Amino acid sequence: MGMLHGRRVLLGVTGSVAAYKACDFVRRLQEAGCEVRVVMTAAACEFVAPLSFQALSGFPVRSAVFDAQAEAGMDHISLARWAEVIVIAPASANFIARLAHGLADDLLSTLCLARLVQTPLCVAPAMNHGMWLNAATQENVSTLRRRGVFVLGPGQGVQACGEVGEGRLLEIPVLLGALEQCVGPWPLRGRRVVLTAGPTREALDPVRYVGNRSSGRMGYALAQAAACRGAEVVLVSGPCALAVPYGVRHVAVESAAQMREAVLAEVGGCDVFIGAAAVADYRAAAVAAQKLKKGADDWCVSLVRNPDILAEVAALGVGRPFVVGFAAETGRLVELARDKLVRKGLDMIAANDVSEGQGFDVADNALSVLWGDGGVDLPRQSKEALAHALLDVIVARYLAKGC
Ligand code: CTP
Repeated sequence: MGMLHGRRVLLGVTGSVAAYKACDFVRRLQEAGCEVRVVMTAAACEFVAPLSFQALSGFPVRSAVFDAQAEAGMDHISLARWAEVIVIAPASANFIARLAHGLADDLLSTLCLARLVQTPLCVAPAMNHGMWLNAATQENVSTLRRRGVFVLGPGQGVQACGEVGEGRLLEIPVLLGALEQCVGPWPLRGRRVVLTAGPTREALDPVRYVGNRSSGRMGYALAQAAACRGAEVVLVSGPCALAVPYGVRHVAVESAAQMREAVLAEVGGCDVFIGAAAVADYRAAAVAAQKLKKGADDWCVSLVRNPDILAEVAALGVGRPFVVGFAAETGRLVELARDKLVRKGLDMIAANDVSEGQGFDVADNALSVLWGDGGVDLPRQSKEALAHALLDVIVARYLAKGC
């Protein structure tokens, strides 16, 4: 389960062209298991009709503080108490200014002011880049951050006005991931997690390579799950067609040699290392400088062993991180994984059976997690849910080791 599952989320929509994107956000929040109520500012109602949000959320949309019909059941205080998370998306420059100055001149600003201190308040700015970079907005945003408000984005790109710059609402899947990181608890706060993910590509010549079917989905989901627990996360990744989770530092590599170099540069001072990449065990003995031309009927490629990045990190000695590896097996799962755990000197290994359409390039997976004197089976589920379950096991073992 993700961090947002079962949460009561109050979505505030303010006056920005991006208000229409909030309709999709309602759906994505519901898919993540949230109960959603929407409050709109008057300006937001100029962009999108409240009825759209009412139909999507399944609840009446509120806008005014003095709403005779609604006041009887759920006034502004009880709505503020109902919310476990408040997210303003999109948050206009005007609304951010009102928030920074503690105004309570409409329902949404009043709710934000009345919320309990433990209720996370998240704002996802969306505005013209000039408005975003204006000193007034920047000072208002700094004020909010200082008060513990989570500022999610904005993103870069083409704006509604046709200009290009910083100020776009984060893409909805990224925003959802960013919000998931705001709800806590954060047992890895102040800790650094380095992960490897995806496949590696071992070049044969300038156009050909030896690769594998890893999608990177498990590694990327683990990076998000670690960020949700408050860690500073570095994701060293081979080529993947996936969005990098919000706030995660991405180091793009191609070959196993590049991955090793990047990991060794990042692993100093790291608390947890997770090797989720499908690192090629072999690379070409020689990479041709020019494109190889076909000729003979068969073609033999000479391969040599790649260094084992995971084993190298595990052998770092004093101050080394808590090291978690993966094992992909087609039989004798626990026996072979336990052997790998010992042979590579790991703290934990997550083994998966790749024999029945499981593991590689599929959405679901199951894992047998093993450590020195124990283990646990994590049943088949989406890789996102599995990543959260595995991170819970990692955190428990990491803290139990007194790290
Ligand atoms: N790994 C690594 N560097 C390599 C090879 C593997 O860091 N050169 C890591 C992977 O990221 C993974 C684990 O080691 O965490 C997998 O170990 P590996 O020995 O490759 O096991 P399998 O993939 O299961 O393959 P085999 O059965 O061939 O040993």
